Amino acid sequence: MQKYENVFVMDHPLIQHKLTFLRDIHTGTMQFRELVSEIATLMCYEATRDLPLMETEIETPMQKTVTQVIAGRKLAFVPILRAGLGMVDGMLQLVPSAKVGHIGLYRDHETLKPVEYYNKLPPDIEERDVIVLDPMLATGGSAMDAITIVKRSHPKSIKFLCIIAAPEGIQALTEAHPDVHVYCAAVDKGLNENGYILPGLGDAGDRIFGTI
Ligand code: PRP
Ligand code: URA
Repeated sequence: MQKYENVFVMDHPLIQHKLTFLRDIHTGTMQFRELVSEIATLMCYEATRDLPLMETEIETPMQKTVTQVIAGRKLAFVPILRAGLGMVDGMLQLVPSAKVGHIGLYRDHETLKPVEYYNKLPPDIEERDVIVLDPMLATGGSAMDAITIVKRSHPKSIKFLCIIAAPEGIQALTEAHPDVHVYCAAVDKGLNENGYILPGLGDAGDRIFGTI
């Protein structure tokens, strides 16, 4: 596989195991939703590895000690509707204090270009590190547009977290936004003529919400 700068593929066995069941056509809506959420939690753990720590003094039942807490870093999660919504609860499991913004985009089936229909971000986003969420990075159009929208509000930093990425999407996204670190669980073979990822998992939004 080609190495891309600022792209991190999370090959942890638990993530890869769950991803197999996520891809499987025989996995039903309820299990699919659970798996998306669980994978998001595991990916959140890795994607927050660089959060800075600071020292604090506490008292254990035995004695006082100096130990570490996260250094007041504020996060915001921004799912791309609809499918990104499936990742939010899993992320909040680990960072319950994060604020959540929403960007509504759908891909026009003819042009494959994203169309914006909703946008609501936390008002204090300038003070926050943002993680944009979407299970699928296909042509990259939706992720690029969502990140452009988030950048207009000047957050401290932006990461993009997806479950499956196509090489075409990674190429487009890292060229358009070289400052954004991209995290994924797999880089697949490529896109078919309809812009679907192969082998992929099908339409993530439809499988999460049962609209197939
Ligand atoms: C899917 C997916 C991404 C987008 C990826 O959403 O969740 O947002 O396609 O494709 P791209 O990289 O080529 O832009 P879709 O447009 O199907 O909307 P939905 O989540 O509402 O189903
Ligand atoms: N969006 C999806 O949900 N799946 C794909 O394979 C491509 C775009």
